[in-house]
Amino acid sequence: MSAPFDIRPMIESDVPAVRSLVVRTVRTSYHGVYSPAAIDFFLRYHELDAIRRDLPGVCLIALADGKLVGTAALVDGEIRRVFVEPSFQGRGIGRKLVATLIERARADGVPRLRLDASLVSRRMYRRMGFVLVAERVHDLGGGEVLPYHEMVLDL
Ligand SMILES: CC(C)(COP(=O)(O)OP(=O)(O)OC[C@H]1O[C@@H](n2cnc3c(N)ncnc32)[C@H](O)[C@@H]1OP(=O)(O)O)[C@@H](O)C(=O)NCCC(=O)NCCS
Repeated sequence: MSAPFDIRPMIESDVPAVRSLVVRTVRTSYHGVYSPAAIDFFLRYHELDAIRRDLPGVCLIALADGKLVGTAALVDGEIRRVFVEPSFQGRGIGRKLVATLIERARADGVPRLRLDASLVSRRMYRRMGFVLVAERVHDLGGGEVLPYHEMVLDL
């Protein structure tokens, strides 16, 4: 049976712990999926200030036994930074975080959600109703690329 978890809004003082969660998850879940250059890019992309900048949007964290185990954000119709602690993946936390953002977007009258899905998350989003717009590649320079999937959900 899965351990219960709670979801609550992220506040400024959560930002360092969220950054640590993202770093651990990128290093573990993207290992062998993305190149070391792409992993470095993700780690820079989700720096402390980037997480802080999204706070005016809808930023959520998931807690299990008071421990931070997940995060997700919704900013200007875009779902961003959905990460679940590797040892807590597969327990419905990611799905619940995204479902909560979808509900919130609907309530706010957002007509369409968009997101850039990682290679490991596309299946979850597809099963939640998101459709693929395009398979894209971010050019990291030096012959390195980062593939991702642009997806949307009409509300
Ligand atoms: C993608 C992610 C957020 C999903 O969170 P989660 O809590 O593990 O997901 P859930 O338990 O809610 O399950 C959602 C789906 O993902 C699948 N899933 C969960 N853990 C998985 C894993 N380790 N490997 C493969 N699939 C997995 C589940 O089977 C489920 O699919 P289904 O319900 O359609 O059968 C999480 O795995 C993660 O943080 N991955 C790395 C970071 C990432 O890719 N983030 C998305 C950026 S766009």
